[in-house]
Amino acid sequence: LDSTVTLNNGVEMPQLGLGVWKVNNTGASQSVQWAIKHGYKAIDTAKQYGNEKGVGEGLQKALADNNLKREDIFLTTKVFNGDQGYESTLENFEGQLKRLQTSYVDLLLIHWPVSGKYLDTWRALEKIYRDGKARAIGVSNFDIAKMKDIILHASIKPSVNQMEFHPLCQEEDIKNFCDKHNIYLEAWSPLGGGAVLGDSRLKAIADKYHKSVAQVILRWDLQRGIITIPKSVHEARIIQNTDVYDFELSDEDVERINSLDTDKRSLWYGDFFWNGNPDGFTDSVDVWD
Ligand code: A2P
Repeated sequence: LDSTVTLNNGVEMPQLGLGVWKVNNTGASQSVQWAIKHGYKAIDTAKQYGNEKGVGEGLQKALADNNLKREDIFLTTKVFNGDQGYESTLENFEGQLKRLQTSYVDLLLIHWPVSGKYLDTWRALEKIYRDGKARAIGVSNFDIAKMKDIILHASIKPSVNQMEFHPLCQEEDIKNFCDKHNIYLEAWSPLGGGAVLGDSRLKAIADKYHKSVAQVILRWDLQRGIITIPKSVHEARIIQNTDVYDFELSDEDVERINSLDTDKRSLWYGDFFWNGNPDGFTDSVDVWD
């Protein structure tokens, strides 16, 4: 659980952390406390999730309960689409810090590439980075064209691109692009939102190692050099998802999982994102043009 990767600006980032998408403030506070109690060193949230406040509260309690310091935990959040633009990102980021009860985040991502805005937003992230309020900056849900656009106009290259990534959705082209540019691919919904856990092909592999399908997928992430942030609101699963360091998948099994790729994102982003938002945020920007 202490395994880290070194980002392209030299910052060390834990390779496995807790995700809290679709969890309310109370649930997020609880999950964060369980995760840190059981050794997690990284937490991933977003303003869009509507639970930064819960994450901040959970983090404060967990630090006190486990005698840890803020710098022991790697905290990621993301710029809300409706906040994009230079000034607006800067202004709203202060609120994010306040809700998270911290003076800096470890990683700040542009959540989605909002057309016509993400370059200005990126300049704001560069300022936040230079001001020492984010130790690393990156993007999320950026395809290759948009990553190229950022790299072309940026003075600081993104450290991370966080994409939907799981055995049925492996983003091979984006992974290759990231590798070439020394950018880490980070997996959101690494367990396919739970949907891939019943896959009989994965179950057959998991049985061989006496592990669960979730554990095999997370192990596969680690071996593929992917940063991964499984979400769970159950303590037993939060623990189970860390128990992935006592076995190694054979090259053949890694290949077997690689071959399950369907090259399809599981959700039509626009629809789920704007209509399925439990926290009342509204924003109608077409993020993928
Ligand atoms: P829950 O939060 O009720 O535990 P992803 O990270 O891909 O979005 O997947 C999260 C989904 O997978 C959630 O529905 C979560 O449910 C479930 N999940 C997380 N870890 C496990 C696990 N070890 N075994 C079974 N289901 C899990």
